[in-house]
Amino acid sequence: MRQINIGLLGCGTVGTGVARMLTENRDLIAARLGAVLNLTRVADLEPDRDRGVALPAGVMVADAHRVVAEPGIDIIVEMIGGEGIARELILSAIENGRHVVTANKALLAAHGNALFQAAAAKGVDLFFEASVGGCMPVIKTLREALVGNRILAMTGILNGTCNYILSKITDEGSRFADALAKAQKEGYAEADPALDVEGRDTAHKLAIMSALAFGMEINLREVYIEGISHLTPLDIELAGQFGYRIKLLAIGKAHADAVEMRVHPTMIPFDNILSNVNGTLNAVSLTGDACGEILLYGRGAGMMPTASAVVGDLVDLARNILSGGAAGRLPGLAYQMANIRRIPVLPIEQISTHYYFRFAALDRPGVLSTIAGILGRHGISIQSVQQKGRKSDGAVPVVMLSHRAREADVQQALAEISALEVSAEKPVLIRIEDHNLVD
Ligand code: HSE
Repeated sequence: MRQINIGLLGCGTVGTGVARMLTENRDLIAARLGAVLNLTRVADLEPDRDRGVALPAGVMVADAHRVVAEPGIDIIVEMIGGEGIARELILSAIENGRHVVTANKALLAAHGNALFQAAAAKGVDLFFEASVGGCMPVIKTLREALVGNRILAMTGILNGTCNYILSKITDEGSRFADALAKAQKEGYAEADPALDVEGRDTAHKLAIMSALAFGMEINLREVYIEGISHLTPLDIELAGQFGYRIKLLAIGKAHADAVEMRVHPTMIPFDNILSNVNGTLNAVSLTGDACGEILLYGRGAGMMPTASAVVGDLVDLARNILSGGAAGRLPGLAYQMANIRRIPVLPIEQISTHYYFRFAALDRPGVLSTIAGILGRHGISIQSVQQKGRKSDGAVPVVMLSHRAREADVQQALAEISALEVSAEKPVLIRIEDHNLVD
């Protein structure tokens, strides 16, 4: 049977998962592919570490540069991560005419445009299903299944670490730091957990998805990013009292001649399916003009779920090779390179949505009307108000949900309210999506 030779760079958690899947499911994959995916070489700085995968002698080496230059290797799998050596190795694999599979979302978000151009110029494919949503076929769905649709909107829970932390705080009253430590122990968190909790990992994924969905260059720089580290248990609890859960959402929306790309904690109502996606699980809702809304749900991280996506890419590439070298049959970014445009991204100030505000105001006569007056002067209309408790000497939380308002107006109004003498703390703002509120 024909063999397709694979060179794997990096044998950490996901790399080990790929090696394990290619070894344990070798016959199953061969039965489907009609060829063997042969793990020819595995490069890792710790070649002798026991990973619980039986590889033939000589497969494991320490020098990744040697693997990308080795004759006879058809596909390079980059599982090193980061933007330094991984980028160098991918570029040299492409230069050597190898197809490449990567899960490296940070690299693609920062340097993807140049990497895809290099791959196209060399006539090789660069596939990256595992970079977004682990085992969920987000990239395949956007690139292939929905190819006839205009993509109107995407909403995703794309970071297992954040979702786990928020679920633990919401459901069990855990402390932020304890929940993060547990997610790290489970192996979900990035090496630098700030990438997770500050929303940057989610933004990497949104920038990649938006390129495929909207036919735009990967544009991480203009994604609005707000993480979850500033959220308080009080707001999570109050959101619940109003019928919402708080999730870190990636939101991408198509406008007539611009797009929205934003990542921030978002209140979504209990009856929205995404609000019931808990723990380390991920989910992505995609809305197309023909298909309407579809939902993908599953494990967005971890050894075998991520390996599952990598091996899916390997089989696609192997099928192209077996059909006589059909590189470029599936355009990496879903659009032909010549049709990828630079689409303006709406600054956060120009979006318009519903808002949750929490003010910590001294409980004095007239305070509520002063706050409502400022909001009103900025064209922000209040849908409901709740004031909790009464303190003669301290601040009470006043919570308001707004009708649809423009972010720029909201920012200005909150700055004015914050400057009031009766404001005891900086006001809290949480955006609301898929609201049951009246516009
Ligand atoms: N740190 C990521 C997460 C890993 O928590 O989801 C998957 O990209």
